Amino acid sequence: MKYDITSLKLADTGRRNVEWAERRMPVVRKIRERFAREKPLKGVRIAGCLHITPETANLARALVAGGAQLALCASNPLSTQDDCAAALVKHFKVAVFARKAVDRKGYYEHINAALDFRPQITIDDGADLVSTLHSERLDVMSNVLGGMEETTTGIVRLRAMAKAGALRYPIIAVNDAHTKYLFDNRYGTGQSTVDGIVRATNTLLAGKNIVCAGYGWCGRGFAMRARGLGAHVIVTEVNHLRAIEATMDGFAVMPMKAAAKIGDVFCTLTGDINVVRKEHFRAMKDGAIVCNSGHFNVEIDIEGLKSIAARVERATRPNLVGYVMKDGRTIYLLAEGRLVNLACAEGHPAEVMDMSFATQSLATEYVYRSHYKLRPEVIDVPQEVEDWISRTKLQTMGIHIDTLTEEQKKYLGAWQEGT
Ligand code: ADE
Repeated sequence: MKYDITSLKLADTGRRNVEWAERRMPVVRKIRERFAREKPLKGVRIAGCLHITPETANLARALVAGGAQLALCASNPLSTQDDCAAALVKHFKVAVFARKAVDRKGYYEHINAALDFRPQITIDDGADLVSTLHSERLDVMSNVLGGMEETTTGIVRLRAMAKAGALRYPIIAVNDAHTKYLFDNRYGTGQSTVDGIVRATNTLLAGKNIVCAGYGWCGRGFAMRARGLGAHVIVTEVNHLRAIEATMDGFAVMPMKAAAKIGDVFCTLTGDINVVRKEHFRAMKDGAIVCNSGHFNVEIDIEGLKSIAARVERATRPNLVGYVMKDGRTIYLLAEGRLVNLACAEGHPAEVMDMSFATQSLATEYVYRSHYKLRPEVIDVPQEVEDWISRTKLQTMGIHIDTLTEEQKKYLGAWQEGT
């Protein structure tokens, strides 16, 4: 089996971390047990471009138990946990091409190595695998039956491809399932983004002005958790409805230009480019901390920041670089503007990834079973998959709920009864 990782020696530590995550991923575990009995993916070649974490390793174990042959590459150069990559190779029979902190060239070499595996199914987080496949690796396209996409940014890219008539095979929008975005994007990003900022800086959030750029599900989660720690949260938005929602949720809403003057910590979660740029850096206070929790490192104009800095100061802490302005102010950038939650912390906790990766596992089974009747477009996760996952997750949490009585069902199905 081919692979390219930092060191196989890390495999036993990695395995312990994978098992620690597994304890908190009971839904994926149940799927793995069924897959091991039924082998719905027998002999199917799958390539995944995902963050290489213990949670991803548990998704990998479920797919391998189902009979799949799996190659994994990283979906971000800084998110790979090298011990986990080693465990996947040594203990879980997965061909991994990922090293933490590879450069751009290495990152794309790894994507190409996963494509050399001639996948029949692709699993993406950000659509780099699909976009490389469609632009540079048409030689392996004929094998592909279908795929899945994990994140909002990837779905935006895929919808643009589908609209342009460029998408060549069906892709299931895992991100858009309720079992994914309501929990992973909100509670996962909320907690792990705060975790990343705190691990990188050890700054106190209580009493600080924290600027949250973007009030989608990730922004909502981050704003909520930052407020929980006592920060004054300011939201910036371009969408009227979301701005109203943020206001009614009790946050201050203002343009970035105004927020720039008063913010202590800035975090972008928008999916768009250059959300924080030169005009904002010029207005920031000395010591301002800037980071990104959106998928790509495009939300902060780093080139612009460099261009107005007199010098760059590598701070004493990892993942933290100070840009010293000509007027003496220093602006601190975390993790080169890459995903702060995965680069400075460990990504979303296993409990939410349990639902996301249960959705991925069952969507993989679905796309393999149904590919012949699906068109090359972005497709929703089937409702019965979402229903099974939410029911099972609740059961594993030990929570019981009411069921509709026959009378209630009848009432809900009727239109005649009013006041
Ligand atoms: N995306 C965000 N957090 C993650 C995690 N822990 N594992 C895989 N992908 C993630």
